[in-house]
Amino acid sequence: MTTINQQAWFDSILRDPETRQSLARHGDTLVRSDGKSYPISDGIPSLVFPESLGGEDGRWNRFYDNLAPFYDLIQRILGPIVVPGSNPEKGWRDVASRLDLKPGDRLLEVSPGPGIAQKFMREKIGPDGALVALDLSRGMLRQCRKRGDQRAFLVHGNAQYLPFADNSFDALFHFGGINQFNDPSLAITEFVRVVKPGGLVSWGDEGFSPSFPDGWRKRMLVRASPGYLQPRPPIPPTLSEVKTHEVFWGLGYLVVGRRNK
Ligand SMILES: C[S@@+](CC[C@H](N)C(=O)[O-])C[C@H]1O[C@@H](n2cnc3c(N)ncnc32)[C@H](O)[C@@H]1O
Repeated sequence: MTTINQQAWFDSILRDPETRQSLARHGDTLVRSDGKSYPISDGIPSLVFPESLGGEDGRWNRFYDNLAPFYDLIQRILGPIVVPGSNPEKGWRDVASRLDLKPGDRLLEVSPGPGIAQKFMREKIGPDGALVALDLSRGMLRQCRKRGDQRAFLVHGNAQYLPFADNSFDALFHFGGINQFNDPSLAITEFVRVVKPGGLVSWGDEGFSPSFPDGWRKRMLVRASPGYLQPRPPIPPTLSEVKTHEVFWGLGYLVVGRRNK
């Protein structure tokens, strides 16, 4: 697919996150039929619903906006302390290897943060694949623009109200936010909706494997991120061929399934 075709495809899948209506582009604005408009700034459409974020979504969004410039560095410093010999690149390569991505796939990454995983996703989807990355934090999107895949289409939005048409993507990947979403099951329903029947749906987050040893590392991690203790969201019956993997040296889980045909 050429870049021009990819831009036309990207414009064609954008939807109002509240009603899922199509949107018309007027310059740097996307407009709904009743006149409600959403801005596009620095090339990033801002399609957030609800406009005022409550509960965990609001709290974590402030946290990630502040943390964004330092997030990658903190991961790189903490990783080898928590698991000697580990490094994020190895972990991401392993995660990417669990996803059955193919050259030319249209992939949505939900919550890329600074976009560290994108290099490994691009290796799989190749130059003809299309990568769309949606995050709720503008700060994280700014980092993603700098450090992530330079061909990715970035979107400011909420994982629980995805601003995309049904059946838009061949594959969807999310890691690291779902434990703290207001409604993780609603996010998963959205993940399935925007993927084509038979397409790949994958999400994961912090979560100790049964073999991860008790001790100071575990206590430190739980104190730093209570998400480790969150129950994992249930897997919906709209998915088949589901497998759950242990990733990041027993610090995380990854669910991989296919939308029912
Ligand atoms: C722990 S970071 C994970 C970033 C990256 N995926 C990784 O694993 O390194 C969590 C990310 O989820 C994003 N996030 C939190 N709530 C979100 C929501 N409701 N919708 C979309 N993204 C959200 C945050 O802005 C942040 O970028």
